[in-house]
Amino acid sequence: MVSMTRQQAWDLLTKYNQEPFHLRHAITVEHVMGWYARELGYGEEADFWSVVGLLHDLDFERWPEEHCKKSQELMRQEGVEESIIRATACHGWGICVDIKPEHEMEKVLFAADELTGLIGAAALMRPSKSVADMELKSLKKKFKDKKFAAGCSREVIAGGAELLGWELDKLLDLTLKAMQAEEAAIETAVGAI
Ligand SMILES: [Fe+2]
Repeated sequence: MVSMTRQQAWDLLTKYNQEPFHLRHAITVEHVMGWYARELGYGEEADFWSVVGLLHDLDFERWPEEHCKKSQELMRQEGVEESIIRATACHGWGICVDIKPEHEMEKVLFAADELTGLIGAAALMRPSKSVADMELKSLKKKFKDKKFAAGCSREVIAGGAELLGWELDKLLDLTLKAMQAEEAAIETAVGAI
């Protein structure tokens, strides 16, 4: 069980992050992780999954060069529990750290993080500006179009599906469903910043 409250995690996040883009991303991943916890049968750990989602990019706004390393130092200073430190850091596996995702939650974070960015960018292209009416086949097209949201690494997303032992389509489908289910809650939380 996570011993850190959502408020404590939020206070820590906003100590080092002020840019609306980063706060929105943190809130989005927080909600997507909570949805996945419930979906995959880890409902009792949903708060843990959510806090990890909220804090996963803690260092990225100020220390992009030390991503997933500086965050460990910042969290240790604050006495954050090691399971949160490890889970957040390992989403940079193979990119900026050597810590491999092991727990299913860590694999989901690794797989879904970049994908939420791709889905969010695809939503902004739609007249509705929403994920509500987005279909899986349109998301698959955006995934294949390497020029679209080129900053969202297709290799990392595909690698995440592989870590989970899922077909890529399953990861796209579930993450889209997560963002659809959580869209209203995400907008409410972003609006309250
Ligand atoms: Fe992220």
